[in-house]
Amino acid sequence: MTVLSRVMLLGPPGAGKGTQAKKIVAETGFVHLSTGDILREEVARRTELGRTAREFMDRGELVPDRLIIDMIRGRIEAARDGFLLDGFPRTVAQAEALEKITLLDVVINIELPREEVIHRLTARRVCRKCGVIYNVLSNPPSANGTCTACGGEVYQRDDDRREVIENRYDVYKASTAPLIDFYRDRGLLREVDGAQPSDVIFSVILSILSG
Ligand code: AP5
Repeated sequence: MTVLSRVMLLGPPGAGKGTQAKKIVAETGFVHLSTGDILREEVARRTELGRTAREFMDRGELVPDRLIIDMIRGRIEAARDGFLLDGFPRTVAQAEALEKITLLDVVINIELPREEVIHRLTARRVCRKCGVIYNVLSNPPSANGTCTACGGEVYQRDDDRREVIENRYDVYKASTAPLIDFYRDRGLLREVDGAQPSDVIFSVILSILSG
């Protein structure tokens, strides 16, 4: 039984935000709002936003704040029974814009050191059809490289190349990590060690959400 229903997952690339988000929404029914997933859909559909966003994403840079806020605002306003923000906000300007849309109940910061981020993301694979997240070292797809859940094609994200991962981590440190103090100052921050097994992290998160 969860009490807190306006939730944000914070943390470096590869910390396990997407992995935990899938478990949390299955348990709670919250709307999963991943700006990375929404942007990748825009890229796949070759929309104007997708074409613009791709230039930033392929380099591991952040998409401009104005585009992100316009993209997410309506989705947050529509999620009246609870939402899980994954990858948003990512700058102080985005966090300030969010405060004008709604207030959060809790921010869960999943910490992971740089070397582990690189180790995990170079081994990540994702199902193109259903979005299940794999890892060729710790949680591989089927032997013929397809998704064990739906049989879909499993692929490597364009931004999971080592040099792009390193830049994403540097961008996180410079632009997103300041949100740790931003939310700590508001009394909303809860910290979780992302190096633990996925099921352990999930239990810790559920206990945080139960208030
Ligand atoms: P986005 O898609 O949000 O990427 P990210 O934040 O870099 O996060 P990741 O998806 O890489 O990692 P994750 O924490 O979800 O880890 P996962 O669960 O997959 O953003 C991509 C790009 O979009 C950005 O670079 C930017 O350009 C743009 N963008 C998005 N939002 C934006 C915004 N708000 N503003 C501006 N630009 C924006 O796990 C990683 C791997 O580890 C997997 O292989 C998994 O199997 C494994 N794993 C997970 N948990 C564990 C565990 N406990 N133990 C061992 N292995 C684990």
